[in-house]
Amino acid sequence: MADKQIERGNMLYEGKAKQVYAAPNKDLVIIHYKDDATAFNGEKKGQIENKGIINNKLSASFFRLLESSGIPTHFVTRVTDRDQLCRNVKIIPLEVIVRNTVAGSLAKRTGQAEGTELPEPMVELTYKDDAQGDPLITKEQAVSKGAAEPEEIDHICSMAIQVNGILRPFLLKKKLKLIDFKLEFGRTSEGQIVLADEISPDTCRFWDAETNEKLDKDRFRRDMDGIPEAYIEVWKRVGDYSVASVAE
Ligand code: TMP
Repeated sequence: MADKQIERGNMLYEGKAKQVYAAPNKDLVIIHYKDDATAFNGEKKGQIENKGIINNKLSASFFRLLESSGIPTHFVTRVTDRDQLCRNVKIIPLEVIVRNTVAGSLAKRTGQAEGTELPEPMVELTYKDDAQGDPLITKEQAVSKGAAEPEEIDHICSMAIQVNGILRPFLLKKKLKLIDFKLEFGRTSEGQIVLADEISPDTCRFWDAETNEKLDKDRFRRDMDGIPEAYIEVWKRVGDYSVASVAE
């Protein structure tokens, strides 16, 4: 796809995996996806070859799918291999985690074996605060921290469950199990709450539906091999792999 001509302005913010730049219109920003990878609150650092390209394209695909299914998102259009144009939102300082299957911190916390199916999808909230290590919090604690109003948190959690209801069957058709994922939401200048940040193998656990092979950032977190290959495999199954290649 030919790159669109949208001038990147000043860098407004740099996160662990992305940079945010000003766009020509103040209600928009350009989000640039890097190859940098971190885990354990930044303690482990590395690079995953072409991750930025794959996550930009995968996130764009997921946001388009969700928009077309009625979920408002910050996504406007993909601009280049690594850049997407998004609405300029103020991020609500909550990580909204949806789980279908026990894995990761839930397995550690409860002693349940990884891979145990949950009877119902569950939602957890963590408060975005690197200094505190993004602690798990209740809805009431999130309200008392001033993250959002109670009704807004209910709305966010209900959107997160809807996202799961859209992505889970979509991914299963691509032979991927959606084990769990993390979402972030933001407020637009008009006060609308929209899905923001990214949806990618950095923020989701994807397991091969037949072999349960991990095809996500857990390979990096757990020092496994085949990390870039796992990202490419997800993109091959989900994204527009046939019309562009990371090797270009
Ligand atoms: P967890 O099992 O480590 O709590 O992770 C739950 C989900 O959230 C998993 O899909 C990975 C994702 N996640 C992030 O996107 N960012 C993070 O900082 C963490 C800890 C998890």
